[in-house]
Amino acid sequence: MKNKDDIYILAIESSCDETAAAVVKNGREVLSNVISSQIALHTLFGGVVPEIASRKHIENIDGVISKAMEDAAVTFDDIDAIGVTYGPGLVGALLVGLAEAKALAYTLKKPLVGVHHIEGHMCANYIQDKEFKPPYVALVVSGGHSHLLYVKDYGEYEILGRTRDDAAGEAYDKVARAIGMGYPGGPKIDKAAKEGNPHAVEFPRVFLEDDSYDFSFSGLKSAVLNYINKQNMMGIEINQNDVAASFQKAVIEVLVEKTIKAAKEKGVTSVAMAGGVASNSALRALMSEKCNENGFHLNIPDPILCTDNAAMIGSAAYYEYIKGRRDTLDLNANPNLKLGEK
Ligand code: KG4
Ligand code: ZN
Repeated sequence: MKNKDDIYILAIESSCDETAAAVVKNGREVLSNVISSQIALHTLFGGVVPEIASRKHIENIDGVISKAMEDAAVTFDDIDAIGVTYGPGLVGALLVGLAEAKALAYTLKKPLVGVHHIEGHMCANYIQDKEFKPPYVALVVSGGHSHLLYVKDYGEYEILGRTRDDAAGEAYDKVARAIGMGYPGGPKIDKAAKEGNPHAVEFPRVFLEDDSYDFSFSGLKSAVLNYINKQNMMGIEINQNDVAASFQKAVIEVLVEKTIKAAKEKGVTSVAMAGGVASNSALRALMSEKCNENGFHLNIPDPILCTDNAAMIGSAAYYEYIKGRRDTLDLNANPNLKLGEK
């Protein structure tokens, strides 16, 4: 039974290739979390095909929402607001979730709360650990974005650094393709790297300027491509596992070092990781090791909360809702929505 002070959000996420809906209680408790992944379909094409993603979202969304309501054992009367990702992402994909959210908000006469996808990823940490609170330093690494943030309060943060070119997940996906592993690259490299030697090839660690918290992964990607071409020209077959392990080590060392440096500079006691790449086992292990060494509490969501899901959107919508955010039915999808832009 719903308590009268409880706030239930029905959340919808469709920014890329997962159609997802969830019901979240008071921003922290997941009553349901339904994800319909299109990965198998896009694998056939070696990456996400936007038009196919939109069509699949249309086919799946009603069923996913019904299942989320059913799993949560709630009725629409229990729902206080509809939360939805409105950017960034693939515009056609975003529009499906947004149109659905608006239709529900309108017909059910419930408030609509738009959520920034990356702010959603960050809120996975609040679901993972119910006591976890700002301030902290967060590393948010996904397929489209890489950010290092100083989170001062709920929904209030300073962007310390971001990628200047490829996102961390994008680098994983491109390198995986280059070494013939296919899509989705991140999990495949993660697995292959476990069988490889991370010292086999010395790929560059790109730290940029001394005082910069930005990332750059395109040079590393080019270094991997050059290495592969050279080996091919010499007729030497590459060892996929060794290349995966060596590439991965170069990525995670930079991510971890910058995060620890930022946490020390900001004087926080906690560090959080989020986004699809936060599922990476080597990154999780190295970040844990360095946080232990430096006395930081570390929050890493379970992999199901790192990948795109609607529970994290429900949590972010809750914190916006209690601050008073209400969107009107003319809220539009914004494929390039910047972090910090409302
Ligand atoms: O957050 P997410 O699900 O979607 C975006 O918002 O982009 O992140 C997807 C990205 C993909 O690039 C995928 O290859 C990467 O996260 N990823 C991983 C792992 N699992 C997913 N990267 C490295 N290791 C993993 N285990
Ligand atoms: Zn995402």
